[in-house]
Amino acid sequence: MKPTLLHGDCLKVLPSLEAESQDLVVTSPPYNLGIAYRSFDDTAKREDFLDWCRQWAAELKRVLHPQGSFFLNVGAAPSNPLFPHQVLLALTEELFVLQNTFHWIKSITVQTRSGESISAGHFKPINSKRYVNDCHEYVFHLTKNGNVPLDRRGAGVPYQDKSNISRWGHTGGQDLRCRGNAWFIPYETIQSRDKERPHPATFPVALVEQCIRIHGQGEDTRLLDPFLGIGTSAVAAHRMNLNAFTGIELDEHYLAVARERLETLI
Ligand SMILES: C[S@@+](CC[C@H](N)C(=O)[O-])C[C@H]1O[C@@H](n2cnc3c(N)ncnc32)[C@H](O)[C@@H]1O
Repeated sequence: MKPTLLHGDCLKVLPSLEAESQDLVVTSPPYNLGIAYRSFDDTAKREDFLDWCRQWAAELKRVLHPQGSFFLNVGAAPSNPLFPHQVLLALTEELFVLQNTFHWIKSITVQTRSGESISAGHFKPINSKRYVNDCHEYVFHLTKNGNVPLDRRGAGVPYQDKSNISRWGHTGGQDLRCRGNAWFIPYETIQSRDKERPHPATFPVALVEQCIRIHGQGEDTRLLDPFLGIGTSAVAAHRMNLNAFTGIELDEHYLAVARERLETLI
């Protein structure tokens, strides 16, 4: 795959892409939570920010294939809990249909039936009397018509109770069930943030891989990320052997890091 990495404002670059030329969009826009990006000012008034979201989302709708999927990752801050829902409402007023809501779980503790407690993922403690730790972000699955078929078992998991395989006809004899909408995906462990993740708001490669699998088009998927950051989605496209990837990033430094990351893989 030869990825196309474009420098610039996605509002200006997206119109250069052909209509219906992308099968899948996986992206995470700025969060409007005052995050310190290098070039983007993340402190706009909420209504202005939502208007801006409507503008790029309209372009994404134009370039997305009718059977395409748009996976939109948005997180919140404990003091700003409505943010993901405000973005979602802005994008579904006239543009997209919400087909699925996924929860990207970054850290979790489960109690097994034998009473054992297992904790997994990265738990970032906060110092607050009001708020509990925020251990998840949303991944909204948006489509043009709400009726796009998915490969539900593409990101599936084995049955815990194997007797279900023969008991239920829909399994087709396969030991694989739909994973559901709670995706536990921890951040990759890193030694040095500056060297290995020099960006304040990345998502893990595995999150994008899961979206590619569930979209179900395999290597033929044409993937677009209009807010590329340091190129996580491009790395996922490479690992999944996709034939086409397009990424757009405003900040030259982040784009340079994305290029370096890809060069180490190729
Ligand atoms: C939440 S980050 C995405 C991080 C990315 N998912 C990763 O893992 O590296 C949002 C990115 O959008 C970029 N950005 C902000 N405004 C933009 C615009 N108008 N066009 C393109 N990129 C923009 C920011 O510089 C930032 O890197």
